[in-house]
Amino acid sequence: MSKLQVIVGSTRPTRAADRVVPWVEARARAHQAFEEVEVLDLRDWPLPMFGEHAGSIGDFQDPTYSDPVVKAWNQKVKEGDAYLVVTPEYNHSVPGVLKNAIDNVFVSFALRHKPMAAVGYSGGLVAAARAIEHLAHIAIEAEMAPLRASVLVPFVESAFGPDGNPKDPTTEAALQITLDDLAWWSAALGRARAEGQLPPAIVRMRAAREAAGD
Ligand SMILES: Cc1cc2nc3c(=O)[nH]c(=O)nc-3n(C[C@H](O)[C@H](O)[C@H](O)COP(=O)(O)O)c2cc1C
Repeated sequence: MSKLQVIVGSTRPTRAADRVVPWVEARARAHQAFEEVEVLDLRDWPLPMFGEHAGSIGDFQDPTYSDPVVKAWNQKVKEGDAYLVVTPEYNHSVPGVLKNAIDNVFVSFALRHKPMAAVGYSGGLVAAARAIEHLAHIAIEAEMAPLRASVLVPFVESAFGPDGNPKDPTTEAALQITLDDLAWWSAALGRARAEGQLPPAIVRMRAAREAAGD
């Protein structure tokens, strides 16, 4: 059993995210595999534009950061075992606010060795296919495990009926498959983390460079 965090990647007034998130949250809560589901709405996390450095980190084992909200964000994200990111597409990528939230997960390795999938939507036909591809690349650098399964919601303004459910039944199927895969990977990686983890690659590389006299 694991904890799923649903991250809401758009913060602007009038956002279409509010059509998508209630449906995603309801299906996630109904999924038997997750003992806890928590929505992390970036509107509730007024993170500064990323600007951490050695001086703002302080103790790397218990970082201070430049702002208490950055520390709280790192601690909150660390509680998650799996992540479902709800994102629109902005200029063929994720919104800057979402990229900034991931950048702010810094030196805590809070996302490391945990699965991540996405629900993407947009006002157009492509939904957020390009944003989700980009997000997968970002997730790799955060040492997450981005999943193949994802949900694409095109023409988001008319994609949901008055009951709040998607009009296209395959959208519903895509979310169930994505949640199933997230649950499987969450359990698998949870077991693997419990068995022991290598130090982060960046730490091992630093040691290798020091050994080489760099
Ligand atoms: C800055 C910006 C860039 C956008 N770029 C794209 C895009 O590249 N592809 C696309 O399909 N839609 C694009 N759109 C349309 C959005 O996907 C659409 O407005 C959607 O509702 C945004 O989600 P939100 O309302 O939850 O913020 C863009 C919208 C904005 C505001």
